[in-house]
Order: sequence, then structure tokens, then C-alpha cells
Amino acid sequence: MRKPILAGNWKMNKTRDEAIHFVLDVDHKLPKDGVEAVVCAPAIILRDLVKRSDVLKVGAQNMNEHEKGAYTGEISPVMIKDTKVEYVILGHSERRQYYAETDERINAKVKTAIEFELKPIICVGETLEERESNKTNDVLKTQITKIFEGVTFENPDNIVVAYEPIWAIGTGKSATSAQAEDACKFIRGILTDIYSKEVSDKIRILYGGSVNTKNIQDIMAQPDIDGGLVGGASLIENDFIELCKACLK
Ligand code: PGA
Repeated sequence: MRKPILAGNWKMNKTRDEAIHFVLDVDHKLPKDGVEAVVCAPAIILRDLVKRSDVLKVGAQNMNEHEKGAYTGEISPVMIKDTKVEYVILGHSERRQYYAETDERINAKVKTAIEFELKPIICVGETLEERESNKTNDVLKTQITKIFEGVTFENPDNIVVAYEPIWAIGTGKSATSAQAEDACKFIRGILTDIYSKEVSDKIRILYGGSVNTKNIQDIMAQPDIDGGLVGGASLIENDFIELCKACLK
């Protein structure tokens, strides 16, 4: 049985005070079992949130692939690990779009995350143009194959993939639950080919893109979808709690 995850991606939102307020308000209202509730917050406040959360888990939104060195402005895996977070989002489409992250770079980051015992939430997904020209599966196959090239791990429970169609992110236009299921199932199939059915059955695959309290039930009812990666709606305390509860299968 794969344990569902509801991961909030706060992006570049919330000051330290706002974030602490959120954690103190939400932490004791979350289900204690049956779902992993995670907030992926700006790196500068990760430690503050880890210290104040009990049920709620914390994640980073990015990480450099090198252990240390002359990379001005970057944050190393050692630094992320030092904050005691469990998760790190890698390859979000905003990183690909605005900071030129490639599948090759994301591949290096995934290897580094595993080496430093951080659990990666690896994002993939197609553009609207790619979907409309029926290229979704080709795009997903290329992304997954490149990102997992040479990646080995002991425990598939610690690997998370998020299917996030770019056209659904922040647009209010979510994929239908059938579209999301098709893509997540397809991704699981590629992971079966790369690893094995035993491994791919354990990797959690999330859907992300305009998830909210109204569409989460339909999304969670799909057999290959193990939770959500949520931007906008994860910023609101009550919505976040409701989303986490809806993930209890
Ligand atoms: P959204 O963002 O829920 O606001 O669409 C999702 C994401 O970018 O992970």
C-alpha cells in the first residue's frame, strides 16, 4: 500500500512569521495517520518550520546538485539536510522555464538527493502545445528516462514523482481526473520498464496543477494517483487541512 502524500508547494510566498503562523495553526489539526502532509517552503525558513512541526513534514523547493563550491546564491544538499527537512522538490516546471533546468541537471540533482538521504519529489509534465499535438506520452517518456538514467536507490518508498501538466499549473484549469490518471499510469509503466513492477508499485506518483478542495476527491479516487502537489490552495490553512483529509484512502 502506497501512503498518500499531500505536498504544498509554497513557491516564493510567505514571510517567516506568516509561515510559522501557518504551521502552528495547522500542525495539530492534521490527520496523524494515513497521509503524509508536507509543506515545501522557501529555504531561508526551513529550519524554523521543522522546529515547530510535529505531524507536518517540511520540504525544500530546490537544491544544487553539488556538495559545495563556487556557486553563488545556490543552496547545497548539505545545507538542506542540515535543516532536517525530509523532502525536496526537483525539476519543477518553473525552474525549467525561468532557470533553464534541463532533464540532465535534474538527473544530477536526483542522484545527489538520494546520496544525501533526501526524498526527491520529481516533477514532469507537458506543455499545452505538446498535449494538443498528442505528444504527452512521448514527452513524459523522455523526461522520466533522462531523469532516472543511472539512478539507483534502495527504498522506492522514498521516491516521489509529480505529474504536473504545465498548462494546469496556476491556471485554475486542472487536468480531468481521467487525464491525470492516464498520465500517472503511463509514468508508472515507464518506471516498471526501467526498474521492475515491484519497484514501480511502491513509487508514489502525485498529480499537480490547480488542485483544490473541489477536485481533490476525484483525483484521489484514481488508482495510480497517490496524492497531490498543490501550489495556490496550499497557502490557505483550512484548504490545506481539507486537502490532506481528502487524501485519506
Ligand atoms: P497550483 O501549482 O496548484 O497553484 O496550480 C502547482 C505547482 O506548481 O506545483
